[in-house]
Amino acid sequence: MKKSKSKTPGAGPAGSQRREGKRSPVSGRGSTPALSTRVAVAIMAAGKGTRLKSQLPKVLHEVGGKPLLEHVIRAAVQVVPAKDVYAIVGHEAERVRAAVEHTGINFVLQAEQRGTGHALIVSREALAAYDHVIVLSGDAPMITPETIGRLRNFHLEEQAAMTLLSAELENPTGYGRVLRKPGSADVRAIVEEKAASPQQKKIREINSGFYVFSVNDLYANIGELSTGNVHAEYYLTDMAEVLRKARRRVVAYETATPNEVLGGNTRAELADIDQQMRLAKCRQLMTDGVTIFYPATCVIDADVVIAPDTVIEPYVQLLGNTKIGAGCRIRSYCVIRDSQIGDGVMIRPGCVMEDAHVSAGAVLGPYSHLRPGSEIGEGAHVGNFVETKKIKLGKGSKANHLTYLGDAEIGAGVNIGAGTITCNYDGVHKHKTVIADGAFIGSDTTLVAPVRVGKGSYIGAASCITDDVPDESLAIGRGRQVVKEGWAKQKSAERK
Ligand code: UD1
Ligand code: CA
Repeated sequence: MKKSKSKTPGAGPAGSQRREGKRSPVSGRGSTPALSTRVAVAIMAAGKGTRLKSQLPKVLHEVGGKPLLEHVIRAAVQVVPAKDVYAIVGHEAERVRAAVEHTGINFVLQAEQRGTGHALIVSREALAAYDHVIVLSGDAPMITPETIGRLRNFHLEEQAAMTLLSAELENPTGYGRVLRKPGSADVRAIVEEKAASPQQKKIREINSGFYVFSVNDLYANIGELSTGNVHAEYYLTDMAEVLRKARRRVVAYETATPNEVLGGNTRAELADIDQQMRLAKCRQLMTDGVTIFYPATCVIDADVVIAPDTVIEPYVQLLGNTKIGAGCRIRSYCVIRDSQIGDGVMIRPGCVMEDAHVSAGAVLGPYSHLRPGSEIGEGAHVGNFVETKKIKLGKGSKANHLTYLGDAEIGAGVNIGAGTITCNYDGVHKHKTVIADGAFIGSDTTLVAPVRVGKGSYIGAASCITDDVPDESLAIGRGRQVVKEGWAKQKSAERK
């Protein structure tokens, strides 16, 4: 059935392109169109996402650690330059714009959201300078530049007015169905799930929501769209029938990689897409030489980089722009965001870190909390229930137990005893603590910043240090011990 559909009578090159797409999904983006052909990408992102029941606009919901829309933009800008990409925004337009503005694309405002067809109606002016427009759905994040490129090439080769990307899904429920002319690439119409007859619902070839239009043909005929449907909206899908009736060519290009078209309309669909992306990421890392035990439990964002021979244990989250060196071990229940970790680092269970920098051979945890600006030196140790913020801990220095180190510069070979606290905050301002190389801080020391402990100096346990300590000295800042011999014995005699 698939084979016969894919044959386009009298259109040799197109027919073979289609078959090639089936066989080798990674065969590159094909030939780029002639330079004189001006192609834009429009991403429909104005909808509210009613089915998510959310305050957050649909396209800002995240999968794989990034908003849906950002994934689509990333694919788009690999096909045309960012200056030719237009996101159509409407519901919470400012919020959506702010979230993806850094990508350098353009925005079109669809102030009222009256359907996918209406999204293109309001884009007329923005697209007037182009010959063709690739239309993408802002809620379908798995689309790849390769597939978009193939769709565009098929459209240009077929000289179609409208080309839609279709996919054959095991479960087509919820998607529009493609009604083809039997045995051809030509499309008669797209019928939405809600309007489909029981017979049509059995069609497994769905409309992906990705299209290419000839701009002239689109806007010469878009006035024919009407709102005579269950949602009283302008459906872009109706353009198939409109253009066919205007005797324009409407064709479908069936993707060989149906998973790419999945949309995140519901929380369950978002979870499904997220899981697929995470697993794909884990597989890629494993191919690159990283060991991941029980990958289904790991949450690793798309941009995370990990060098070979690092071992990731179950239930680890590696987020944002995290980079991990070779030969590390990340034990269970660590949550690491936007951090750089050198080679051969051991991170024991339960560590939380954000915006931290850990040098080679360091040992962390269990249960260390590295807050932004923590720089842990080569071979340094940070142990259980140690919190750090905006500090430098020098090479080979150790803070192994129950400690807070904030706004501090700590040299090499320093030993920080259990329960040490840098008192960095006076209620208004933050102050700095400096601990020079080789210093030894006794347990239960409070260092009242600003304060400096000199090179090689010792601080007696339980000291409260308020004044600078010169190099090579001993400082003790605590009440002297008083012993009252026989006191307890006398007390009990009195009680009797
Ligand atoms: C749409 C298609 C359906 C297809 C499916 C694929 C229509 C009528 N139906 O259905 O055939 O199988 O995609 O995923 O197009 N949007 C706007 N402005 C609006 C309305 C929507 O920009 O006024 C945006 C949404 O934010 C979304 C995209 O368009 O990113 C698609 O809209 P959505 O409501 O999700 O369409 P589907 O019901 O999924
Ligand atoms: Ca959708």
